[in-house]
Amino acid sequence: MTTRQLVAGLVAAALGLATAVLGVVGQADLAIAALGLLLAVLVVVLLDIRRRQGEMAKRLKQMAQRDLATARKIDRLRGLPADVEASGRRTLDAVTGEVRSTVGRLQTAGDRVLTGIAQERLAAAERHVELVGHVGGIGSTLTSLGDGVSGIREDVASTKKRVDGARRDLLAGQEELAQGEKRRLISLRERVDKLGYEPVRQIQALMQLDKRIDARAPLPPTGGWAMEPTTLFRLVRLVDQTRPAMVVECGSGASTVWLAYALESLGGGRLVSLEHDERYAEQTRRTLEEHGLSGVAEVRHAPLSEVEVNGETFTWYDPTAVQDLKDIELLLVDGPPRASGPRARYPALPLLGTRLAPGARIVLDDVDRPEEQEAADAWLAETPGLVREGSETDRSALLTYRPG
Ligand SMILES: C[S@@+](CC[C@H](N)C(=O)[O-])C[C@H]1O[C@@H](n2cnc3c(N)ncnc32)[C@H](O)[C@@H]1O
Repeated sequence: MTTRQLVAGLVAAALGLATAVLGVVGQADLAIAALGLLLAVLVVVLLDIRRRQGEMAKRLKQMAQRDLATARKIDRLRGLPADVEASGRRTLDAVTGEVRSTVGRLQTAGDRVLTGIAQERLAAAERHVELVGHVGGIGSTLTSLGDGVSGIREDVASTKKRVDGARRDLLAGQEELAQGEKRRLISLRERVDKLGYEPVRQIQALMQLDKRIDARAPLPPTGGWAMEPTTLFRLVRLVDQTRPAMVVECGSGASTVWLAYALESLGGGRLVSLEHDERYAEQTRRTLEEHGLSGVAEVRHAPLSEVEVNGETFTWYDPTAVQDLKDIELLLVDGPPRASGPRARYPALPLLGTRLAPGARIVLDDVDRPEEQEAADAWLAETPGLVREGSETDRSALLTYRPG
């Protein structure tokens, strides 16, 4: 119920109540008026209800229309899936057809592209083969160039090696020259020093030799090509001390005579002197004869020949000239002359070593010269039992052979 209907109901109730009260109290006129008002209110209420019913019906109609429209929409919506499906199918078909035709077109295009690619690859392969051929050509050229470069590199390396070797040789040569020069300077200084006192020493030695040897004829000169008096005196003293039964001399001359005198005075001993030069051999023989010493000393002509020592070839006395010699107790090495070849005196000990008696003495003259010094060093290094005695500064080296 609306507020208006409540108010109209209350007014109608009040008018009915007033009508009833007025009728009871005898107020008929007022009761009729109140009744008329009550009827009017009722008519108004009825009219209002009718109006409201009409509005309600209108609203219901509108609602029904809306429901109807909604029901139609629902119906339409219910049919929509089928439409959508049909439409989707159509679209799918269309799309499928489109895709198929696109695929076909793509396939055709792809085939064309693949063919193009294949042709391109073929062309590329041909170019590659061609290139490989070129590269092969270049490779073989490079290989031959490489071989050439390797060859050049080897040549350079071997040249460098040779240059290095030559440089080393040069340095060694320079060093050797410097050493040689130094030795020569020392020797020169010694010789200069010697000039002061040497003549006195030589005269002294000669005076002593003269006292020791009672010569029967003029003696050959000493010094120069012949031994110096100091060396001769040393030799004679050695003979006196060791009394050798067998003396061998390499290189005849003045020493042959002095030694023969020394041996003769001792009452024994024999001297064989090897001489390469027949002229000097004859000359020394004559001198020995003049002094009556031919029975003590023999000058044996032994021409120079090639001999082999430890695989090396030297020029020395003919070995057949020494074949009968044995038990040599004193070996004097004063020949062959230096001019006959390098290390001219070195072969003496290797070739006569087996003919030496135990305890034999070896005298090597001119050891103040490098070549003779080298020979003495080599003998000492190669011959077991060989020792050097006396001073290293002597012009002649005295060695003793004592084999084990
Ligand atoms: C270094 S000399 C020494 C010879 C000897 N041992 C001496 O001291 O008298 C070596 C060579 O000189 C030569 N010779 C020998 N008598 C000679 C002389 N009267 N004049 C020049 N040379 C001579 C010989 O050929 C000999 O082999």
